[in-house]
Amino acid sequence: MGSYRTHGVLFSVTMSPAMSPATSPDWSPISWQTKPALQQPTYPDTARLEQVMQDLAHLPPLVTSWEIEKLKSQLAEAAEGNMFLLQGGDCAESFADCTSENIANKLKILLQMSLVLTHGTQKRVIRVGRFAGQYAKPRSEDMETRGDVVLPSYRGELINSQPFTPADRTPDPVRMLRGYERAALTLNFIRGLIDGGFADLHHPEYWDLDWVKHSDHAEEYQKLVAAISHSLLFLETLAGRAVGAMSRVDYFTSHEGLHLWYEQAQTRRVPRRPGWYNLSTHFPWIGMRTAQTEGAHVELFRGIANPIGVKVGPGTTPEKLLELIGILDPRQEPGRLTLIHRFGQKKIADGLPPLLDAVQSAGRKVLWVCDPMHGNTEATASGFKTRRFDSILAELDQAFALHQAAGTYLGGVHLELTGENVTECIGGARGLAEEDLQRSYHTQVDPRLNYEQALEVAMLIARRMPAEPFPRIV
Ligand code: PEP
Ligand code: CO
Repeated sequence: MGSYRTHGVLFSVTMSPAMSPATSPDWSPISWQTKPALQQPTYPDTARLEQVMQDLAHLPPLVTSWEIEKLKSQLAEAAEGNMFLLQGGDCAESFADCTSENIANKLKILLQMSLVLTHGTQKRVIRVGRFAGQYAKPRSEDMETRGDVVLPSYRGELINSQPFTPADRTPDPVRMLRGYERAALTLNFIRGLIDGGFADLHHPEYWDLDWVKHSDHAEEYQKLVAAISHSLLFLETLAGRAVGAMSRVDYFTSHEGLHLWYEQAQTRRVPRRPGWYNLSTHFPWIGMRTAQTEGAHVELFRGIANPIGVKVGPGTTPEKLLELIGILDPRQEPGRLTLIHRFGQKKIADGLPPLLDAVQSAGRKVLWVCDPMHGNTEATASGFKTRRFDSILAELDQAFALHQAAGTYLGGVHLELTGENVTECIGGARGLAEEDLQRSYHTQVDPRLNYEQALEVAMLIARRMPAEPFPRIV
């Protein structure tokens, strides 16, 4: 047991006498504390922070190392062109939305999208939710000013809460425990639903396809759904059992690994496996604003064994990207690194090819994923943050074409979506207009695709996926 005093706060960490060969000798779960750490709250009460860190470090983990390794091997398959990653969920989860209905609806939309994608792409789909921990958000300003009052910005429920009062906005470390518990409740329900046969979604009554009537692609979509129903029936007949039976870890979890105290507390050793695991999630990613090679986020995540994602976009230079790859994946481990590009439909044509070229020329293997959401955010005249369905599709469309031209494989999508019928993004089959946004606008931070828009995106991806030159499953 070693003790460390950093930022005036004492934290302990259990160190094994022999560091694993997978971990560099100058890394530890607290080595990030010596680097510049962006987007962190300032806790006024450090004694409370210390107590929470100790409590968190003693609670059982949310996920296991063997689930993490399973996901890593599937991501390696996706990087090879054999699988496709569907990663989606809320921009920011809220504590209040930790309800059975919300969780079940999110699971349902991801499952339906994955069935559409599997059918369209003829590849197995890896389902990863942005859930059970997506509680911390990067903000452009540390402080928010309203009139004469200046308070800390809202940084997500893991840190503070939204109402503009000093009590709500003061970062409170105890919220990390509340977030951890909500994540555990969410995961527990997800595992229970899957075990209980929730995945049995091949019955048409689950499909809720009323929206198809409003789409230009109505006929094609109806055919797709009929084909999926028939395939499932065929498989069931062949197998003599329901296809819905899925293993417990068929859904993986991910969140932005933003809040470094929270991530540190869950970074642990496990029996009988080398290295350190972040056991708060299967798949943490580093956000655009915190991906500096010399920064604290890259430092913490370089030392863990989980697969990790990194957002890249305007401002990411080929040189910096290669440096980042060298730091985060020094052993060139299959499935280790996913690069999630998020340029926006106007910038992707110029921004993406140099990155694809650089990575390819350096002979590095990564999984490329497109996030068509974060480069396409805009504000309406009435002040709503929104995204246009057409811009999202235009970015995806270009992404497929650019990868194809470069000879690389676009192996996944990263979407902000919800299983509810919110009105946060403009467009889609029902043609949501700017005036519709106020009807059901609930997001904590960024606008999400609603149930119908998300399914429509899946159908459009399925149509757009190039069939060749990547192998198909039989
Ligand atoms: C996000 O995924 O919610 C996010 C903040 O993305 P990015 O880091 O790409 O801006
Ligand atoms: Co977001």
